[in-house]
Amino acid sequence: MIDLNELQRRASEELAACADEAALRAWNSRYFGKTGEVLVALKAVGSVAPAERKSYGQLANQIKESLSSAYEAALAREKERALERSLATEKLDVTLPGREFSRGRLHPSTQTLRLIQSIFAELGFQVFRSPEVEDDETNFGLLNMPPHHPARDMWDTFHTTTPGVLLRTHTSPGQIHIMRKLCPRPIRVILPGMCYRYEQITPRSEIMFHQVEGLVIGERITMADLKGTIVAFARRLFGLDRQIRIRSSYFPFTEPSIEVDIDWPKDDPNADRLTKGTGWLEIMGAGMVHPIVLRNGGYDPAKYSGFAFGMGPERITMLRHAIDDIRLFWSNDLRFLKQF
Ligand code: PHE
Repeated sequence: MIDLNELQRRASEELAACADEAALRAWNSRYFGKTGEVLVALKAVGSVAPAERKSYGQLANQIKESLSSAYEAALAREKERALERSLATEKLDVTLPGREFSRGRLHPSTQTLRLIQSIFAELGFQVFRSPEVEDDETNFGLLNMPPHHPARDMWDTFHTTTPGVLLRTHTSPGQIHIMRKLCPRPIRVILPGMCYRYEQITPRSEIMFHQVEGLVIGERITMADLKGTIVAFARRLFGLDRQIRIRSSYFPFTEPSIEVDIDWPKDDPNADRLTKGTGWLEIMGAGMVHPIVLRNGGYDPAKYSGFAFGMGPERITMLRHAIDDIRLFWSNDLRFLKQF
């Protein structure tokens, strides 16, 4: 016969010695698990001599009740203690300063692009995009620069390994795409995007840069419309204090052609270096769309005329913030980028 009193004493002692929850649970399965000693003792009632069976059974039940309620109480106490321990050791100081939330921001070129787009949207222009990878024909040929035309030297190119496929050197091929898409309807669009040129990197020029092309086609569009649009745009962008200079120029795809300059802030010590001593920085080329280009786009030059321009948002950003080196735009220097 199992010595119930010995069992109870031993179980109580061991329970009292349990130091943590894991020990308590181990104790519980030792005594109350499937083959636990208390359950085994209860089942053993069948093998007890009939005379003692009743008192054995009663005592076994009592022991079971008292041990299991002692276990529950010990477990509850232990959980309470664990909570107190964690509250004491993992104290949360709600007065500590929070972790700084680092906010991203738009690249200065993107900011300028959006500004340019919003000004032209105000002037009634739509925004289109055209591909950065072009063929020779669209980047040059259809813009009135047949192969070996000397004017191609102004746009040194990155060629891909596929013959005749290149990275566009300007957004002007977009003129051809949009004319062919919208012909014979009137056009008033800008085409922003990235351009690439194989050229020496200097504070004024990079191998990649944005351009915003503009194209207006309709009946009786004149040079006065071009000038009015450019002045309205520059006034909105730079304010009334800055000066605008329009010079005659040459592009194979416009006739006549002009270039537009903005005066560099005179008090800036870098003015001379960046403006080559002139005090002006060029922001765009423009002109009346050449009749050959109009025809390549599907428009009859006897009926339609138009103007086009192409401007550099990086140059414009430099002018707005007196940034003295265009290479800063793509060098990913956070000290530069965080200023905008
Ligand atoms: N595509 C010319 C350039 O990259 C700029 C330009 C655009 C000039 C449209 C005239 C008309 O220099």
